[in-house]
Amino acid sequence: MDTHRLHTSALFLLLLVIDAAMVTEAKLVPNYYRKTCPRAERIVTDVVSQKQLSHPTTAAGVLRVFFHDCFVSGCDASVLVSPTAFARSERDAAQSQSLPGDAFEAVARAKTALELACPGVVSCADVLAIAARDLVTMTGGPFYPLRLGRKDALASSSAAPDAELPLANSTVPRLVAMFAAKGFTVQELVALSGAHTLGFAHCAEFADRIFRRGNKGGGAAPAPHDPAMNPAYAKGLHDACRNYQRDPTIAVFNDVMTPGKFDNMYFVNLQRGLGLLSTDQELWTDPRTRPFVQRYAANQTAFFADFARAIVKLGVMGVKTGRDGEVRRRCDMFNGNPVPGG
Ligand code: HEM
Ligand SMILES: *[C@@H]1O[C@H](CO)[C@@H](O)[C@H](O)[C@H]1NC(C)=O
Ligand SMILES: *[C@@H]1O[C@H](CO)[C@@H](O)[C@H](O)[C@H]1NC(C)=O
Repeated sequence: MDTHRLHTSALFLLLLVIDAAMVTEAKLVPNYYRKTCPRAERIVTDVVSQKQLSHPTTAAGVLRVFFHDCFVSGCDASVLVSPTAFARSERDAAQSQSLPGDAFEAVARAKTALELACPGVVSCADVLAIAARDLVTMTGGPFYPLRLGRKDALASSSAAPDAELPLANSTVPRLVAMFAAKGFTVQELVALSGAHTLGFAHCAEFADRIFRRGNKGGGAAPAPHDPAMNPAYAKGLHDACRNYQRDPTIAVFNDVMTPGKFDNMYFVNLQRGLGLLSTDQELWTDPRTRPFVQRYAANQTAFFADFARAIVKLGVMGVKTGRDGEVRRRCDMFNGNPVPGG
């Protein structure tokens, strides 16, 4: 009996040790590149800052790409893989079509600089995480320290983004469920939605809110629009998007008041009916999310603290470590891929 118990506890200890080893391996650390590429973060910061100065839409694009990367199969740069003649990738998904080229270009440039300084060392998943953080900070948002050591995915599914990402017309209960399924609270959903303080959305994403049945003829009557929307704002969007079906590239600012600044204006806007997407405005309408909108609209410090905590959490979702991944040489292709034209 005693022997049995001894064996059992020995086995238990052994399992604990194995478990601890696996946890340790999967754990990201702050100074991951201290020995192998000490200037890694500095290099990314320099490159993306330059890019942001010349192309001010970069910050929003990179932040959104980071969200799409992490929310779909983990923060593993699967979103960066380009399709080839032989294989589709996440970029083929409908939900990926509006991800802006400047964001991919910023990451590619940072990676090129890193490959010159320390070839084959810094993963694309880490580059994207650092770039998103730096651009949030650079546009006025919080700085948050990052743990590094993510590996790059060995797969990129064209079906996953549309299955896993919310749509602009998702209901709040649906958003809450989708975020809960990934381990996020209602408050974290609201805090992360504050990312829409930056960037653009294309008219098709909110057309249902401003072109309602009965107004297709464009008569003199005021535009019937989503009653949750501020009428003057609806009119402005109606005008801006008038030709969106002919020109689907027309896009407007997510935050109409301070579009290029990472601040809490997004939440102030929601209180005034100035939310652009249905999913934005409904955070104010729904009694579950409304108190957090109120809190962040009143207190930017609280928003920044909660956003930082939530995006750090987003940034460790489903990370690949060890043999589950690789350090890509180029962010847009797996190392195993044949060289284009070769
Ligand atoms: C809550 C659910 C969310 C929905 C339904 C949603 C949906 C969308 C949509 C439809 C757009 C417009 C895309 C376009 O037309 O180009 C957009 C833009 C954007 N989203 Fe979200 N999003 C959500 C959450 C997030 C989160 C959590 C983040 C980051 C933490 C984020 C960051 C962004 C950014 C920065 C943009 C602007 C992109 C640009 O200007 O290129 N979104 N989002
Ligand atoms: C929501 O939007 C998607 C694509 O943008 C569309 O296919 C779908 O029909 C919309 N759903 C509702 C309920 O309007
Ligand atoms: C704003 O939020 C911060 C962080 O939660 C808190 O320390 C501070 O007291 C709040 N300020 C006000 C005016 O409520």
